[in-house]
Amino acid sequence: MTKASEAVLEEIWRSLHAATARHTPFTLGYLGTVDAEGAPRVRAVILRRVDREWGELALATDRRSAKVSEIAGNPRVALTVYDEERSVQQRIEGRARLDDSAERERVWVSLGSHSRDLYRSPWAPGTILPAEAGDDVEPRPAETHAEAATDDAAAFERFAWVRIECERLDWLDLSASPQERWEFRRGADEWEGQRIVP
Ligand SMILES: Cc1cc2nc3c(=O)[nH]c(=O)nc-3n(C[C@H](O)[C@H](O)[C@H](O)COP(=O)(O)O)c2cc1C
Repeated sequence: MTKASEAVLEEIWRSLHAATARHTPFTLGYLGTVDAEGAPRVRAVILRRVDREWGELALATDRRSAKVSEIAGNPRVALTVYDEERSVQQRIEGRARLDDSAERERVWVSLGSHSRDLYRSPWAPGTILPAEAGDDVEPRPAETHAEAATDDAAAFERFAWVRIECERLDWLDLSASPQERWEFRRGADEWEGQRIVP
């Protein structure tokens, strides 16, 4: 790789990593999956971890959500983030998998109670709510310590830690003059980068 492409690659990983340490414009991205009919599905997700050494990103989701079954059917995913202040778009393409290693548990423990509460509902995301009885499907707050512990175990079961092995990175800087676009592909040992037409 040239010095210029190395510098862009460095900036890609630095800025993705920064997005997981504090809130930056790259913290919120749009994840695309492919459903069983081959149709694209895109939704907002929070970028939670960046592992530069393995070239992987991670996000948290509900194991029962549509995106998890879509990934099981076809692991190919794409994630796009955009920094409006810098006019920089990053597109990431790769393969996703559920990570059931000890890291999943470590992440679960590190989550704030507000985030963990999202997994307490017995109802899967996308479940149709009765027209007039929205209150009926709200999970009842746990009343006893034992119940709370059971709820916590059930919530953990629903918690999925999704890792994305990045295969292609696309960096578009609209603030540069002329605009700059670089693509990086994962080679056998290292990333290979080239400048391409925006
Ligand atoms: C700002 C914002 C952040 C979100 N972050 C996440 C996230 O990190 N993980 C997640 O599963 N869903 C997140 N969501 C909800 C998803 O966009 C989506 O509605 C939900 O996961 C169900 O998607 P699915 O049915 O395609 O699986 C977020 C939504 C918004 C608006």
